[in-house]
Amino acid sequence: MGSIEQTAELLLCLSPTEVASLKEGINFVRNKSTGKDYILYKSKSHLRACKNMCKHQGGLFIKDIEDLDGRSVRCTKHNWKLDVSTMKYINPPGSFCQDELVVEKSEENELLLLELNPPNPWDSEPRPPEDLAFGEVQITYLTHACMDLKLGDKRMVFDPWLTGPAFARGWWLLHEPPSDWLERLCRADLIYISHMHSDHLSYPTLKKLAGRRPDIPIYVGKTERPVFWNLNQSGVQLTNINVVPFGIWQQVDKNLRFMILMDGVHPEMDTCIIVEYKGHKILNTVDCTRPNGGRLPVKVDLMMSDFAGGASGFPMTFSGGKFTEEWKAQFIKTERKKLLNYKARLVKDLQPRIYCPFAGYFVEAHPSDKYIKETNIKNDPDELNSLIKKNSDVLTWTPRPGATLDLGRMLKDPTDSKGIIEPPEGTKIYKDSWDFGPYLKILNAAVGDEIFHHSSWIKEYFTWAGFKDYNLVVRMIETDEDFSPFPGGYDYLVDFLDLSFPKERPSREHPYEEIRSRVDVIRHVVKNGLLWDDLYIGFQTRLQRDPDIYHHLFWNHFQIKLPLTPPDWKSFLMYHG
Ligand code: FES
Repeated sequence: MGSIEQTAELLLCLSPTEVASLKEGINFVRNKSTGKDYILYKSKSHLRACKNMCKHQGGLFIKDIEDLDGRSVRCTKHNWKLDVSTMKYINPPGSFCQDELVVEKSEENELLLLELNPPNPWDSEPRPPEDLAFGEVQITYLTHACMDLKLGDKRMVFDPWLTGPAFARGWWLLHEPPSDWLERLCRADLIYISHMHSDHLSYPTLKKLAGRRPDIPIYVGKTERPVFWNLNQSGVQLTNINVVPFGIWQQVDKNLRFMILMDGVHPEMDTCIIVEYKGHKILNTVDCTRPNGGRLPVKVDLMMSDFAGGASGFPMTFSGGKFTEEWKAQFIKTERKKLLNYKARLVKDLQPRIYCPFAGYFVEAHPSDKYIKETNIKNDPDELNSLIKKNSDVLTWTPRPGATLDLGRMLKDPTDSKGIIEPPEGTKIYKDSWDFGPYLKILNAAVGDEIFHHSSWIKEYFTWAGFKDYNLVVRMIETDEDFSPFPGGYDYLVDFLDLSFPKERPSREHPYEEIRSRVDVIRHVVKNGLLWDDLYIGFQTRLQRDPDIYHHLFWNHFQIKLPLTPPDWKSFLMYHG
């Protein structure tokens, strides 16, 4: 498959006169012929440069009026801030770096901005598309982000979440999967799992599958945190997990290959995929915020991506200060609209033949999460699809569980009534009941666990977690279902500056956060060394913070970077027993 050669692309060329007119500090520059914007930072004779494009969702930076040193710029979309002198984002604090461009001088003393790029990896060994017979490529939607693809005589499944909750007990399936979902999984030749979040890597689903086919071939990208980091602990027996490098075609048979790509914002955990059959590309960007750093193949035959929003505890689980119901409602409305426009724009730019919004079909179904369910409004796929249709001639597909798209037919004649076969009349589309019992029982089992008889579990746990030397004091409160203190539950402070557990808040200036968590979920997370996504994305916490800032390093650590093996409670109990 060969290695990928790097190439340099000239993005901007400034004449010697233009170079002379650059001022100290930040300069906004536009390439008049391409209309693209760049930021140059000049400090004496040294120059740094980057695209004027926010790493978050591609927003435009402008001068940051709060910045007195003249070093930072502010994104017009969601206020991320970039220090151009260091190329590091300062909001979210301690988070990302901006990709820098190479600055060079030409022989004529022009200034050149170059971007070093591998060629688009999917262009290696290109295959011209061949005609597809009717029925040769069929894509059936099962639920959420789960698609069942028939590609010639091979079958591939994406992200099977078909039973049980995700994120502890916070997310439940919106759609009723087709009743033969387990048979469908069992007959797959390969399964792609995009990332470790439990609405994509669903252990309850895999447990059922492993009972029948433990050797089913599963493919994941080579992320820094392994997708299956928790497999051993999960108790699920899967014996054929394949970790593949990014940007390299994986040949399945002579007609079928796929390539896993990373996310530009969360390369340590998130991926997306291109599947190619007889030269026809299917692009699935899943949940990536900036799939492959924003560089994607154009004119694929079918593209699918997330669209819905609402996959975060922010702002629904926050209170105090600005977080009134009105503020939250307004925020949700604006953010969803922005996401919708962003997706519509992306689709318009990439010009796939067909686009399908998916991976947003969950509901906060447990009665105790009624507030979240009612307020965490998600985007409507039909609304996105009409926006797309208004601006382009891309065909759209709003998938219903069990519906099948025949790619050969759709490409030949989009008006073919058999292009998309809807589920039979009378099929149940939306779930109206969920099997909460067994899953809540598992969580509840942690509440009475022996480790919590010893208050020193707190020190043991946070020492294991390994987050410190950060000026933040957190008050952790264990609560009942309604977020009132749990009788006999723990209520304690953690000072992350020196990892101490003081009785009172320290007298020094310190940012402070109060985290109320449902006792069953927090104890389950603590006991099993799980990531705090279950708490945060699963709406199992209520938060207050002073000042009102996002502590990226803290949350990133507890959501992505916790140790790969759980705390050693056995030794702990031996010592304390
Ligand atoms: S903060 Fe820049 S795009 Fe969102």
